[in-house]
Amino acid sequence: MTEANEHGGTPAVDLFEAMRTARSLRRFKPDPVPDEVLARCLEAATWAPSGSNRQGWRFIVLRSPEARAVLGPAFRAGWDWVCTSIYGYEPRPAPDDMSKAARLTRTMLHLVENFENVPAYVLFCHEPTGFVGDFLEAGSIFPAVQNFLLAARAHGLGTVPSTWFTFGEKQLREVVGIPDGWQIASLVAVGWPEGNHGPVRRKPVARVTALDTWDNPLIKDES
Ligand SMILES: Cc1cc2nc3c(=O)[nH]c(=O)nc-3n(C[C@H](O)[C@H](O)[C@H](O)COP(=O)(O)O)c2cc1C
Repeated sequence: MTEANEHGGTPAVDLFEAMRTARSLRRFKPDPVPDEVLARCLEAATWAPSGSNRQGWRFIVLRSPEARAVLGPAFRAGWDWVCTSIYGYEPRPAPDDMSKAARLTRTMLHLVENFENVPAYVLFCHEPTGFVGDFLEAGSIFPAVQNFLLAARAHGLGTVPSTWFTFGEKQLREVVGIPDGWQIASLVAVGWPEGNHGPVRRKPVARVTALDTWDNPLIKDES
């Protein structure tokens, strides 16, 4: 982790601390993210495992106005549907609604409304083998996404992965020149956070682990 200092000028973060506090951030300062820092985080992405070490990936940093002109409007056009149909939330919660859902919705909406102002996006593309199903193919690209998220966290950057690119995927593929046969796995927004990194909220490990058989606890559930 000391190299993070050399490349990004940011304090090194312990790996476990980075994992514990790499929550999604959707509000960013306008300051640009230096290419060296992005490259360093993308190098970490390349350290991820993939089936047979095939490394069928390509990471495209998106800064072009053309890509933003496709995705910004597409994100906004899809927002109400995503929010009501997928998340089951009110797309524009009342300002005094402080529920968890409303707060999450507001931060997501902020990203949607400010899509064009995010300093950088990284498009994670994957060339499937064609031998296994989508679920297993995904296993050869999402570890790279996660490595990138953690490396970005170590540099003090905020990130959030998104699947909403699907609303503008056809035009995006044309603008970026993505060859046929390649899939887009994730679009990750990256920038210096407007808020703080903070602990992720997850189910306790005891509740999601078992020893040997499905229901046999590995550790005691103290929660
Ligand atoms: C595959 C995937 C797709 C996601 N898509 C979106 C998205 O389209 N928009 C968004 O705001 N967050 C998106 N997220 C972020 C999740 O909402 C977030 O990780 C989750 O709510 C847990 O919150 P945390 O990351 O802050 O701990 C996505 C995360 C993953 C792993």
